Parts: sequence; structure tokens; C-alpha cells
Amino acid sequence: MGLKNYPTLGLQAFLVLVVMFMLPPLLFSKPNGHHFEFLQNLQGSHKGQKLDGVGKLKRYLEKFGYLHYNDHSTHANDEEFDDQLESAVKTYQLKYGLNETGHLCPRTTEMMMMPRCGVPDIINGTTRMKRHKHGPLSFHTVSHFVLFQGNRKWPYSINQAHLIYKFESSVPVIHIRLLRPAIVQAFAKWEYVIPFKFVEARRGQVANITIGFHRRNHGDPVGFDGPGGTLAHAFPPTIGMFHYDADEKWSTNPKPNEMDLETIAIHEIGHVLGLQHSAVPEAIMYGLFSPGEKKRRLHKDDVLGIRTLYGLHR
Ligand SMILES: *[C@@H]1O[C@H](CO)[C@@H](O)[C@H](O)[C@H]1NC(C)=O
Ligand SMILES: *[C@@H]1O[C@H](CO)[C@@H](O)[C@H](O)[C@H]1NC(C)=O
Ligand SMILES: *[C@@H]1O[C@H](CO)[C@@H](O)[C@H](O)[C@H]1NC(C)=O
Ligand SMILES: [Zn+2]
Ligand SMILES: [Zn+2]
Repeated sequence: MGLKNYPTLGLQAFLVLVVMFMLPPLLFSKPNGHHFEFLQNLQGSHKGQKLDGVGKLKRYLEKFGYLHYNDHSTHANDEEFDDQLESAVKTYQLKYGLNETGHLCPRTTEMMMMPRCGVPDIINGTTRMKRHKHGPLSFHTVSHFVLFQGNRKWPYSINQAHLIYKFESSVPVIHIRLLRPAIVQAFAKWEYVIPFKFVEARRGQVANITIGFHRRNHGDPVGFDGPGGTLAHAFPPTIGMFHYDADEKWSTNPKPNEMDLETIAIHEIGHVLGLQHSAVPEAIMYGLFSPGEKKRRLHKDDVLGIRTLYGLHR
């Protein structure tokens, strides 16, 4: 290695430093963190194309309930943007109030990349779509809450007016002294409109609802996906499980790159009680969240939904 190489090395080192300083802001400026990043490269893609990442898009839309390939589908596992995928993209666009173009226009990509709840938007074919007054289909239905199939709910009686919850995590993330008040606040929002009272389990007491932090595969049918992507999930009545993804940045007072514990708790408790994803962006049961977002109240759509299940109590 001759002396004349030194200036080049110096330049390389300088570039490496520049890149290192630029990288963190670049990462944080993306709305999703990391997991849904593949979608960025698919922007503009449409039916008939064969592109790296289309297979991942299929897994994404399957995971959230929009796409169901059967055993005879030729393109279930390849990178081809086929008819079924186009129709799944249109269903997604309809659900989120976008133009039903069937291709990944910028707004669609942006929505799909948002951090979101891991519960599918469509379960067993039940969902309700949002239609625009001036949309291509030129009719509209009222945007609405959605219940689980069979209107699953917790049985209520005078003798059974309490639901007991406990904390149980496989990964330590937030101290219980910080987590507990956020969860108490979240339950309080629902207590105001349904007959149940929520009470933390005494030591050794059997609970109806278990709340905790977990990472990746953690023993239920749907694992988490690391930083970004899905934030949390919960199961319909009367399973009583609500899990936070331990790999997200959680806070009781979120900075722009952190997720709010209470906001997500109110949402997941909604699932625990029997609500599925709403198409109303202001509703707590809307499935997408922005980092830093504090949405700590029920919308009238949420109240209407929960009262449909449990009646008018307050
Ligand atoms: C839908 O398409 C119309 C007409 O091209 C456009 O004005 C509107 O902004 C689009 N809406 C969305 C949500 O992309
Ligand atoms: C979906 O349908 C299956 C089979 O009918 C049923 O076992 C399951 O509980 C349903 N899931 C929900 C959330 O309703
Ligand atoms: C809550 O759990 C307790 C203990 O298992 C059980 O007796 C009770 O019926 C459950 N409550 C409801 C509403 O299901
Ligand atoms: Zn959800
Ligand atoms: Zn889980």
C-alpha cells in the first residue's frame, strides 16, 4: 500500500462517518421503523409485474385478512402481481378510504407502512367497508365499528360484574409501577360505558385477562415481528389475552419515535371486550397508529359498538 493511497482512505473514512451520522435520522424519519420497509420499494407496482417484494406484500395482505390463496393458486408463493393480489389491494384501499386503484399508489404505500395492530382487519370475512360519497362506486354506507363473528362477548350478570386482570410478561420492558397506571387509565375509559369493573388480581388469583410484553414467537398463533410493523395484539372474548410487542419503543409520555402505552392499551382492551377494527380514523378501534400519537379517548363509534354488545349502562 503506497502513500498515494492515503488521501483515498481518508475520503472513504470521511464518507463512512457522514453515512453513520446520516443514518439514524433517515431511519427515524420513516413512519414505520423497519418491518414494513419492503413496501417502499413496491411503490407504483401493479398487476402484471414481477418484482422482488411482491411475495412479501402477499404475506402482508394475508396476515391482515385481505388475501386468501387456495391450494390451486398458481401465484401464491411467487413474486407475480396477479389478479387476486390486485383485488386484495382494492379491498385494502376500500377499507382505508383510498381510491380503489388496485396498485400501490403513494398514499396506499404510506398507509400500509404505518405501525399497526396485529389483529387482522378482516376475520372470517367480517368487516365493514368505508365508501366515499364521491368514490368510484358512488354510494356510501355509514362508517362503522365491527364486532367479531357471532358477537362474542363476556357474560355479564350481577354476580359476575368484575373482570380480573393480571400482568405476565416474558420480556421485561416497562416497570410495573409505570405500566399499571397506564392500564388502569385505559380500563377506566371502557368502564365508563360498559357494566364491568376491572380489578387487578390478588396474588395467586385466577384472572380473566392477562396483559404482558412478548417478543417474536411467544406461544400463541401469531408471533411479533421485531421493531416496527405490528405493535400489539389481543384476542376476542373470552380468551382474555392482550400482548404488547416488546421490541417497540414504549412510553407513558411518547416522544415522536415512541408508542404510547395507554393509547394501545385502550385499543387492545377494545378487542378483549369484543370490538374488531373500525374504519373510522378517529375511533380508538382504527387499526393504524402513528409513533408519538396519543389517542386516549373513545370516539362515539367505539361507544356505539361496545353498547351494541353490552347494552346501554351509563
Ligand atoms: C383519489 O383520486 C382523486 C382523483 O384522481 C384525487 O383527487 C384524490 O385526491 C384521490 N384521493 C386519495 C385519497 O388518494
Ligand atoms: C373464525 O371461524 C373459525 C371456524 O368457524 C372459528 O373457529 C373462529 O373462532 C372464528 N374466529 C373469530 C374471531 O370469530
Ligand atoms: C372470570 O374468571 C373467574 C375465575 O376463573 C370466573 O369464575 C369468572 O366466571 C370469569 N368472569 C367472566 C365474566 O367470564
Ligand atoms: Zn387492533
Ligand atoms: Zn401474543
